[in-house]
Amino acid sequence: MDSNKRPDSMVRITTMELAQQFIDEQVAAVRAQVGDKKVLLALSGGVDSSVVAALLIKAIGKQLVCVHVNHGLMRKGESEQVIDVFGKALDANLVYVDATDRFLDLLAGESDPEKKRKIIGAEFIKVFDEEAAKLDGISFLAQGTIYPDILESIKQAEGKQAVKSHHNVGGLPEDMAMELVEPIKLLFKDEVRIVGDALGLPHNMVYRQPFPGPGLGVRCLGAITRDRLHALREADAILREEFEIAGLAGKVWQYFIAVPDMKSVGVRNESRYEGWPAIIRAVNTTDAMTATIEEIPYAVLHKITARITNEVEGINRVLMDLTPKPTGTIEWE
Ligand code: XMP
Repeated sequence: MDSNKRPDSMVRITTMELAQQFIDEQVAAVRAQVGDKKVLLALSGGVDSSVVAALLIKAIGKQLVCVHVNHGLMRKGESEQVIDVFGKALDANLVYVDATDRFLDLLAGESDPEKKRKIIGAEFIKVFDEEAAKLDGISFLAQGTIYPDILESIKQAEGKQAVKSHHNVGGLPEDMAMELVEPIKLLFKDEVRIVGDALGLPHNMVYRQPFPGPGLGVRCLGAITRDRLHALREADAILREEFEIAGLAGKVWQYFIAVPDMKSVGVRNESRYEGWPAIIRAVNTTDAMTATIEEIPYAVLHKITARITNEVEGINRVLMDLTPKPTGTIEWE
């Protein structure tokens, strides 16, 4: 039997009971596969790697070593949440690496979107590899592969071209001779979320919107600078907070801010104030191949605009991107 094919007989996980049953089965399967050996996991804090981490902590506790690489392109509060949830609440064996300076130094001056993506992807694997080399006796590598990833790689193998070189942070270092542990590889995203709920992970972690592997790196448009990246992170946090308050968070598939490398003239505190614009993007989609624009009530947009232009250093305008995909891709880079 092809272990990468979801059997027709596999029941869709739609309830907490079914999720619990899946967890019990996987805990037993992981214990049988791993024995008393050690397992390594790149824990980004996204839904998939978080669910795998929680599942493996339940199955093998401290035999799991989680490595969280903070590439400096995370959203506000994300790395802190990984430390709080996994390092503290779940008492996991967590290695936290703040590689912000390494990534930002390498990216300095690079404005080509594909080159930026390649730098981030390659450096991620390098940092992860270095951390793995410091650990003794690791026999397995766990991954948060899910079923759409498998379907996507089949499509790519059939020669269908991608528009951008997407990468998942936590990509597999090619020269690592470790056996894979992929407990959620036959699940669809909605099932992964129910399993995450059943494992007791925080709601905002399990229902988090998709976030690209290169993170804010593809939203801080052009050559990344620390001050513009900081402004982007703060503006994005405000957008997310206000979408939560307005009850839009569960209704809009993806919403974020992009900040281009251009300034306009504005006024703040009765003085000339040159700043960047914050661009709001809010889209709905089912498969990310096409996307439609979500209508956001003007009252919400006004509040977000007022907060961003008042609270975020360096931003003096807020714009809205009304372009569906196609012709715009969801991300700007
Ligand atoms: P685009 O911009 O191609 O994005 O319309 C489609 C979806 O993919 C996400 N995205 C990525 N996800 N690694 C990922 O895991 C990546 O490198 C990457 N680039 C884009 C994007 O956020 C959107 O949900």
